[in-house]
Amino acid sequence: MATNPQAATQNRSRLLAALYIAQEQYGWLSPQAIQRVAGRLGLSPGQVRATASFYTMFKLEPQGKYRIQVCEGLSCYLVDGAETIIDHVSRKLKIKPGGTTPDGRFTLEVVQCIASCGTAPALRINDELYERMTLESIDALLERLGSE
Ligand code: FES
Repeated sequence: MATNPQAATQNRSRLLAALYIAQEQYGWLSPQAIQRVAGRLGLSPGQVRATASFYTMFKLEPQGKYRIQVCEGLSCYLVDGAETIIDHVSRKLKIKPGGTTPDGRFTLEVVQCIASCGTAPALRINDELYERMTLESIDALLERLGSE
């Protein structure tokens, strides 16, 4: 634990960056990752976990190899993309939004605008953006990723 109030404040201000780095490194914030971050910053695991659980970008459960983020923002919704794509991917992978396939390959997330409104409907898989998606292009993409 940090011994003086100023150090504790500085370490708390570093917490989001540390959580981001840990998640990038481990894929999710496991109890071990939380423990490591807490140890490095002189915070309690409870403090770290409480902060991580507040932000949806931090994942406290194992994630699939491919995190499919389907946008349900207004532009994607208006081109009849959001709900149709979410339903399609959900049916195809047999998981609900927030779920991960049993083989650990895919996680499906529903997110808000991913800054590709002009080329809606859009989705992101890990750090890759996919634009002007159709059900056919999604099927081809899932097939390719499913065999990699
Ligand atoms: S609303 Fe979907 S990318 Fe902006």
